[in-house]
Amino acid sequence: MISLVAAALATCALVSSVHCASESTAWCYHLPSCNDDTWSTLSARYCNGIRQSPINIAPASARPDANLGAFTFGNFDNASALESIGNTGRTVKVTFGSGVQVSGGGLPEAYNSLQFHLHWGNGSSVPGSEHTVDGKRYPMELHIVNIKASYNGNTTQALADSEALAALGFLIENAYFQEMPGNATGQPASWKTLTSYLANITNKDDSVAIASGISLDDLLDGVDRSKYYRYLGSLTTPACNEVVVWTVFKEPIKVSKDLIDLFSTTIYVTNSSSPLMTNVFRKIQPEQPVTTQSTSTSSTSSPPTTCYSLGLMGLSLALGWN
Ligand SMILES: *[C@@H]1O[C@H](CO)[C@@H](O)[C@H](O)[C@H]1NC(C)=O
Ligand SMILES: *[C@@H]1O[C@H](CO)[C@@H](O)[C@H](O)[C@H]1NC(C)=O
Ligand SMILES: *[C@@H]1O[C@H](CO)[C@@H](O)[C@H](O)[C@H]1NC(C)=O
Ligand SMILES: *[C@@H]1O[C@H](CO)[C@@H](O)[C@H](O)[C@H]1NC(C)=O
Ligand SMILES: *[C@@H]1O[C@H](CO)[C@@H](O)[C@H](O)[C@H]1NC(C)=O
Ligand SMILES: *[C@@H]1O[C@H](CO)[C@@H](O)[C@H](O)[C@H]1NC(C)=O
Ligand SMILES: [Zn+2]
Repeated sequence: MISLVAAALATCALVSSVHCASESTAWCYHLPSCNDDTWSTLSARYCNGIRQSPINIAPASARPDANLGAFTFGNFDNASALESIGNTGRTVKVTFGSGVQVSGGGLPEAYNSLQFHLHWGNGSSVPGSEHTVDGKRYPMELHIVNIKASYNGNTTQALADSEALAALGFLIENAYFQEMPGNATGQPASWKTLTSYLANITNKDDSVAIASGISLDDLLDGVDRSKYYRYLGSLTTPACNEVVVWTVFKEPIKVSKDLIDLFSTTIYVTNSSSPLMTNVFRKIQPEQPVTTQSTSTSSTSSPPTTCYSLGLMGLSLALGWN
């Protein structure tokens, strides 16, 4: 899921450095010798748990739940709320300013939005979303990470709460090409702007400020956010803590192929002497009960390959210390 990477950083800063000191855990996604099969050993406490993410969603099996109403998205229209974009060595992460919040949507309370990050495969032709729908894996997936507002960043409390985090998952599809052949590249404009920063963060730990001008609403344009799946799951990176209320929206974000391809051709795991960052997603975990507003859709899939030793896994570690 959540490469908790992002929340991780933000949250890590809030806990004592003791909890963040052992960030040397090496884990990998999809190398032959180092892959997500070993996570249950590396982080045994949770990664082999009973409500792990991501999962395949079978729309026909999703049960209706009348509580899954509309969300309220606070500051998603704020074109100054995206503060910075960075290469964590595991993902590309965008950090938010304060005041971004999500509530409603059947969530137990308001959650503060911390960051979003992305999962991808190897270009638009080798898909790398984490969740799949009826077996179909999408080219990419965006995860917005949110933590219960009532905690004020207190991760000690968050540790004991199976709904401490709310993750909003958006599948990303290469669909502009079919729909707008005359505008096949550089679409939509918000994603062209966002991806223009990738060249500034090619190396691990690179980070640059994002100029005002694009909002979360801009990046999520075209997605009907009243239609979604809901299940209880985990972080999708070690330590895989089972503290996440998952929302996966039914409609994908549509991004042109050239922009999707930039992630797997621009971002390095470490630097230009290391592999490009590709196939950054966890394999599918055992299915969980899924609810939704009604029933729907379907499709196909495939997987792929990468590894690296890692640095900082903020929240994962912070939440996993005990
Ligand atoms: C927009 O977000 C920025 C950064 O978080 C914040 O300083 C500003 O107050 C927000 N604007 C509004 C209208 O809330
Ligand atoms: C990714 O795709 C490129 C271009 O097809 C290929 O050269 C490279 O080997 C692929 N990388 C992985 C890890 O599969
Ligand atoms: C966090 O919450 C726990 C449990 O309620 C409390 O004991 C602790 O003092 C809190 N920590 C901070 C920094 O507020
Ligand atoms: C391309 O986009 C422009 C501006 O949005 C629009 O005027 C034009 O009709 C589009 N062309 C096609 C083929 O969709
Ligand atoms: C990103 O890199 C380009 C080209 O090197 C440079 O012109 C631009 O100022 C950089 N942007 C940021 C935000 O650092
Ligand atoms: C890449 O990183 C490695 C390990 O930190 C370092 O030894 C090497 O000099 C770096 N290469 C470049 C081109 O920066
Ligand atoms: Zn994620």
